[in-house]
Amino acid sequence: MADNPLRVGLDTERTAPPCAFVIFGASGDLTRRKLIPALYNLSVSRLLPAQFGVVGFAITESTTEQFRENMHKDTSQFSRRKPVEDAVWRDFASRLHYVSGSFEDVSNFVKLKDQLDELDRSAGTRGNRVYYLAIPPSMFGVVVENLAKVGLVSDPNDHTHFSRIIVEKPFGRDLVSGTALNATLHKAFAEQQIFRIDHYLGKETVQNMLAFRFGNEIFEPLWNRNHIDHVQITVAEDIGVEGRGRFYEEAGATRDIVQNHLLQLLMVMAMEPPAAFEADSVRDEKVKVLRALRPILYDDVARLTVRGQYSPGNFQGKGVPGYREEPNVAPNSLVETFVAMKLEVDNWRWAGVPIYIRAGKRLTKRVTEISIHFKRVPHSLLSPRSPIDRDVLALRIQPDDGITIRFMAKVPGPAMQLRPVNMDFRYGTTFGGSAPEAYERLNLDCMLGDPTLFARSDEVSAAWRFVTPILEAWREDPPTDFPNYAAGTWGPASASDLLERDRRHWRRL
Ligand code: BG6
Repeated sequence: MADNPLRVGLDTERTAPPCAFVIFGASGDLTRRKLIPALYNLSVSRLLPAQFGVVGFAITESTTEQFRENMHKDTSQFSRRKPVEDAVWRDFASRLHYVSGSFEDVSNFVKLKDQLDELDRSAGTRGNRVYYLAIPPSMFGVVVENLAKVGLVSDPNDHTHFSRIIVEKPFGRDLVSGTALNATLHKAFAEQQIFRIDHYLGKETVQNMLAFRFGNEIFEPLWNRNHIDHVQITVAEDIGVEGRGRFYEEAGATRDIVQNHLLQLLMVMAMEPPAAFEADSVRDEKVKVLRALRPILYDDVARLTVRGQYSPGNFQGKGVPGYREEPNVAPNSLVETFVAMKLEVDNWRWAGVPIYIRAGKRLTKRVTEISIHFKRVPHSLLSPRSPIDRDVLALRIQPDDGITIRFMAKVPGPAMQLRPVNMDFRYGTTFGGSAPEAYERLNLDCMLGDPTLFARSDEVSAAWRFVTPILEAWREDPPTDFPNYAAGTWGPASASDLLERDRRHWRRL
């Protein structure tokens, strides 16, 4: 096993080097719900070094003491491990610090620098810094500029210490703004210092797809156009926009899920085997998939894409409002809460294999799954009257993570009657415990300087290059039937038509 390159990246014995972790937007939701609980859990797993400190920075007035108390409450609520372990928390809390002030005022960055210098002296963080931008993209420019102004960004070629920056999606809202955002970051940081988070890449089950494809001999020979009829990728959510109406009105399902999470799943499913499990080899192969995606041009948009928006409906026996009734949503909003598309990857492996994707809010249930539908056997020898179903390999990302293979079996009895049956692997049953959250893995990887599971700038641009013409065509041809699906259903009828036209159907989930 030791010489298997996959093992290197999946090794769990990886402790972060000495460093300070600075969170911009420390009073926000992401910090309370995800970042601090993730760092605390890294600490429980002993993956943080003794020479470590966190500095929260936000406009909200607060003292370090209050910050520690608030984070304790939030971690107790949101940590995957409960209850919070007192001894670990006491040590972790002593490493939390807070700086308040506006990001526009450079004197606050001088305060930040003093705090970081103090951590270097007292905690031994050695001038190594990770900056996490948990703030709206409109603020990135001023933060990056002020960090550089006060000398808080080290030279990428100086290997005695490091400065790295983590940015959250959205990485712009189209190709032009995405490129502008990159230019802003590149004013102070080199590409190798920029870590673009797509939390789907941090999910254990997404990484397991790499292990499944490239750590086994039996599946890879089948993973191509000779054996696969089509692929389906579903990212379904049962929740609505959860008070994020203002954000969602600017985003919609395509920008919120497809441009990033869903295309990441597609890349991992469709990529060629990289030469090594190493950042550039993996990302080179991933981006090739996006470059091979057949563009959906203006005239084909109506045929190959479907948009939807939910109306009031029922969820788990309760009435739920429609999208237009959500707070901060326009009463005549044309923003899509559902999208489905038929994609084609024009390369040797995938030519002629349609990839149907769909993503939406307020669907029947929360499920993210990739299913590989194999071709039918060439001749129904055994059951001439009842057609034989296609075998299906389903990779369940969440919830109930696992892998199912559906294949045909003989029903016991005197006749040769066949029926599809399932063979099932469940993560939870096999490995037990709660798997690390995406933010644990990704924050740790950034501290370790490993960008394999982060989006590179060319990936982000290629994703925008694919999605932008579709968004533009939609803008020119606004939907006339919104809202067109009831909350709690599987989306608009036209989403089923997209497959039925090809004599296929969405897998029942
Ligand atoms: C976020 C989107 O990036 O991903 C949300 O902004 C969405 O709208 C979330 O709900 C889904 O993440 P997960 O991990 O719950 O699938």
